[in-house]
Amino acid sequence: MGGTGTLRLTRRQCGRNVLLAAVGAAVPAWIEAARSDGDEGQGVNGPDSLRAHAALRGLRYGAAVIPELLDVEGVAAGNTTDAYTQLVQGQANILVAENAMKWGALRPAAETFEFGQADRLMHFAALTGDAVRGHNLCWHEALPAWFKTTATKDNARKLLVDHIQTVAGRYRGQMHSWDVVNEAVNPKDGRADGLRNSPWLELVGPDYIEVAFQSAAAADPSAKLTYNEYDIELDTPEQIEKRGQVMLLLRRLKARGIPIHAVGVQSHLKADGPQPGAGLVDFVRQAAKMGLEVYVTEMDVNTHSLEGGPEAQDVAVARVYRDYLGMMLAEANVPVALTWGITSARSWLNESKQPWARRGDGSRQRPLPFDDELRATPAFFAIRNAVDGARAPAIPPGAAPVTDPSGLYKPFPVQGSPTTQPATAPAQPAVPPPPPFSTHPAIPAAPPAQPPPPSR
Ligand code: GLA
Repeated sequence: MGGTGTLRLTRRQCGRNVLLAAVGAAVPAWIEAARSDGDEGQGVNGPDSLRAHAALRGLRYGAAVIPELLDVEGVAAGNTTDAYTQLVQGQANILVAENAMKWGALRPAAETFEFGQADRLMHFAALTGDAVRGHNLCWHEALPAWFKTTATKDNARKLLVDHIQTVAGRYRGQMHSWDVVNEAVNPKDGRADGLRNSPWLELVGPDYIEVAFQSAAAADPSAKLTYNEYDIELDTPEQIEKRGQVMLLLRRLKARGIPIHAVGVQSHLKADGPQPGAGLVDFVRQAAKMGLEVYVTEMDVNTHSLEGGPEAQDVAVARVYRDYLGMMLAEANVPVALTWGITSARSWLNESKQPWARRGDGSRQRPLPFDDELRATPAFFAIRNAVDGARAPAIPPGAAPVTDPSGLYKPFPVQGSPTTQPATAPAQPAVPPPPPFSTHPAIPAAPPAQPPPPSR
């Protein structure tokens, strides 16, 4: 993840992201039609960008970024010529740090915090008017090496609470949302509650999830607090079971009055094999009934086992984006979609040596809306089309977190938590409107809400 290779850019490409000429005769008509939506059939910037199209619908499109690659100083001075920076600035209106806000990046030693790269992202976002998702406050991976030897049953709860207070507190009032807990469910571990046998579960106990959410709510009351999970998209037996366990966890949290506002569906999908469908739509609608938003948090499309050249990959990848985002963005409680990276030049799928990432022919993957040379791929047009067809979100961007006072049980006090949540959550303070898109052309207000789509 987040390797250190450099972008494959020629000088000619600096300062602009251009659309490739035709990618081959195999490109289906729907991709050609989507392309011709822009200026002269080729526009991908300014009013033709993903951020502009998303803003028109009241949505957010964004990407995981590597803060050290962002030319923050150039953006501040209004003269950046860095192609990656311009691409991020021009296409995304919500950002997430690919690695820079994980424990391993923020906690070089047990007593110290290192906020350099995280602050860099926040500075960039403040300059560009982008929203930011915090990722993540509690995960079984990306823990620093000292954690194993330092964390014990006696101190882990305090470690978790202190970390969340410090990190979420530092960016209080600046976050669109926080992935408070990442990937806590794993039915394969065989527990009745479906929880993963993670270090947090082992050291704190199963209520570490409640502790994390309550700590995050105390530290940053205006961020939408999110539970983020992977492999819950498909209707395969394993993923149906996992999705069901995630729903049980969400119900448990709601029933206990725990402040949670959204569920993140990571959406690392594959171009071949089964695709998401009715089961996930049902999950999204159940979440809506519980007052939860759903975010597509980490989308990319893996082609490691797909045969064919770049054109065949591009078509298959674009089809997944079209079908998946078309399905998800039709739901009024899905207002946000992010890809895990923006260019294949820096995709974790091209940096991983795992067999599930490596292509048999040795060629590079093309899982994102922009390729290694920062040219728009057919996936770009598929995303833009899905955004254009999206239903307006139920809750406008920037609105206060959803609170659902209809808990089934009285909330229980969580040991070691800085707050005890009342049964009916108090009104959240209003969140100030997002800053204007200072470096972008004015974007017209969202059109009126569309009538609900026919049920599937
Ligand atoms: C998970 C994590 C991300 C990232 C991806 C890809 O989905 O949530 O932070 O690490 O894996 O590696």
